[in-house]
Amino acid sequence: MNIPTTNPIMNAIVLMMIMVVVVVDAAGDSNNGFHPCLDTKIQRSDGFTFGIVFNSKESFSLNNNNSLQLSPCDSRLDLKNKNSRVAVFRPKVDEISLLTINTSSFDPNSFGGYMVAFAGRKYAARSVPVFVADGNHIVTSFTLVLEFQKGTLQNLFWKNDKCDSCKGMPNFVCIQNRYCAIKKTSCKSSGQGKVDCSLGIQLAFSGTDKHLSALNSWYEVEKLRQYSLYKLYSNLRGSLTDQFNKFF
Ligand SMILES: *[C@@H]1O[C@H](CO)[C@@H](O)[C@H](O)[C@H]1NC(C)=O
Ligand SMILES: *[C@@H]1O[C@H](CO)[C@@H](O)[C@H](O)[C@H]1NC(C)=O
Repeated sequence: MNIPTTNPIMNAIVLMMIMVVVVVDAAGDSNNGFHPCLDTKIQRSDGFTFGIVFNSKESFSLNNNNSLQLSPCDSRLDLKNKNSRVAVFRPKVDEISLLTINTSSFDPNSFGGYMVAFAGRKYAARSVPVFVADGNHIVTSFTLVLEFQKGTLQNLFWKNDKCDSCKGMPNFVCIQNRYCAIKKTSCKSSGQGKVDCSLGIQLAFSGTDKHLSALNSWYEVEKLRQYSLYKLYSNLRGSLTDQFNKFF
């Protein structure tokens, strides 16, 4: 969805940032917008900055009205006074990236249990809130698509497979008929389990850049979906999903 923000105060976001993650190599990066609440027009090979904010599902809409979903950059949501946490990423446009948020000292459930991805100021775009964790479960695997038109971000959406990937796996629970969540008792961070229950977010780009070149990484994700992209990241320490096969 595309939301005009009439009164954005970027400081609201700066104050609650916990983690600034992933700086891509700057070669070929012509995008000077480094704050997630700025409008930028990207081309392939640029870096693109966006944020993910954690809070309760209700906190992302004005007056708890679901049809009034504002950008987290909009001060009317007052997220900085609502026990939020923000992670900021700068992946390279049109490259498939796996972003991680380490949960060894960060429990998303303590910050409302939902997350929203967002970027932009006047032409702000944001995703719907997606479930991450409650007291007993945590979802560790996400796919986020960033859709651009002529280089301007139009939409961010979470893809999910309605629990197809965890059917019949005893340590997973299907939450809200949509999210494959692992039981926290299996997680290292809860003190007993063996699994690193950090969040892994597969990123893909679709649409066109400012020169109208097509962004294709989404197509590759679809094509590779059947083989879990996590296998492409064998250099990621304790790679996040493969470990399930080891322990269960
Ligand atoms: C929510 O906002 C919409 C759009 O402004 C309005 O039509 C609707 O009445 C509101 N709902 C409630 C419950 O306030
Ligand atoms: C998260 O942090 C812990 C403690 O520093 C570390 O042992 C673990 O490997 C990290 N997990 C990931 C996925 O980076």
